[in-house]
Amino acid sequence: ADVYGRGLKYERPPFTFQSKEWEGLARERMSRESLGYVCGNASTGETTRKNHEAFQKWSIVPSRLVETSSYPSLKTEVLGQDLKVPIAIAPIGVQRIFNPDGELATAAAAASEGVPYIYSTAAATSIEDVARVNGKGVRWYQLYWPSNNHNELTVSLLQRAKKNGFSALVVTLDTYKLGWRPSDLNNAYNPFLRSDSVGTALGFSDPVFRKNFKEKYGKEVEEDMKTAASDWAGMIFPGFSHGWEDLKFLRENWDGPIVLKGIQTVRDARKCVELGIEGIVVSNHGGRQQDGGPASLDCLVKIVNEVGSKIDIIFDSGIRCGSDIAKALALGAKMVLVGRPYVYGLVLGGEEGVGHVLRSLLGDLTMNLHLAGIQSVSPEHLNRDCLEYSN
Ligand code: FNR
Repeated sequence: ADVYGRGLKYERPPFTFQSKEWEGLARERMSRESLGYVCGNASTGETTRKNHEAFQKWSIVPSRLVETSSYPSLKTEVLGQDLKVPIAIAPIGVQRIFNPDGELATAAAAASEGVPYIYSTAAATSIEDVARVNGKGVRWYQLYWPSNNHNELTVSLLQRAKKNGFSALVVTLDTYKLGWRPSDLNNAYNPFLRSDSVGTALGFSDPVFRKNFKEKYGKEVEEDMKTAASDWAGMIFPGFSHGWEDLKFLRENWDGPIVLKGIQTVRDARKCVELGIEGIVVSNHGGRQQDGGPASLDCLVKIVNEVGSKIDIIFDSGIRCGSDIAKALALGAKMVLVGRPYVYGLVLGGEEGVGHVLRSLLGDLTMNLHLAGIQSVSPEHLNRDCLEYSN
């Protein structure tokens, strides 16, 4: 809300407070490949379109003459952790292709704005370096889960994350193989084989990965980055899914809460509750994995109806402005993940750009709630009674 008072005067161009303009401005500054990667979706983009359309079916209905002497509180509690705001940085890989500072810029901005940072296994910066710039910020570790014959590598990643202050494990279940993405296929683009995203990049800092590579090829990772990048990609995207029974292994090797990302059905959400999983991210990866699927927001509604009180529910796929956040929270999510918008900020201005996007989204959310007479994001104030549905 502070930013509302200060206005554009203090935020330099190319920044804009109109969230709808971020993507267009960033598009002008990206290479064809980076643009295709971040803006691209699975196949025809039907899932992604539905993600956005779903928000339009819900309207926030305001209440008048409500006590609103202070701005609404944005505090939330997720996985037993007290959080200042109900948004977090969605895990997004290879951020150096968008800005040379990559993950370092995003993790620093997140810490400054009090926004939790979720680190991707496909990051272009090491776990340790990100933890250092993120400092006292809240950070969670997202796992692309290597196949069972690489359990030693998985354990190494989890131990490094734990040692570096990552306080929850987020396991992404919808990406054991990258989706059919025409933009990347047309550009013959593989983010993992680019010189600006490898290097210190990806898992190359991992001692188990390095040891195995040396045993297999008789040389160091740095001597053959291309093979190393392709080996690494093959490990974190093994091409087939684990089974529910494999979660035992993660439980045994991770001391802390576990969140499963990519849940879309009531059936799977119930299974998570049965297994004692602490949280889920209702997500379809922004429609980048499977086409012709349902809108993530529609999945949220069904899942909250069935298991809303039994597990912490986080939402992503389609969040673009303050009212989107308010709607997802009113529908029962405890927090939402911001994905592509912060990448546009990263393209436009590195750490400052990411900070701008986060501040804008939070300012927009705050004013929206304030003017709708909603006193906080807690379910007591922000709930389904604040919304009206029309098809
Ligand atoms: C992603 N996403 C993702 N998810 C994940 O678990 N690990 C990852 O490494 C990545 N990488 C990634 C790269 C890019 C360029 C994008 C756009 C997305 C998915 C991400 O966490 C989130 O689910 C989506 O971004 C949500 O969709 P919207 O709101 O960005 O459309």
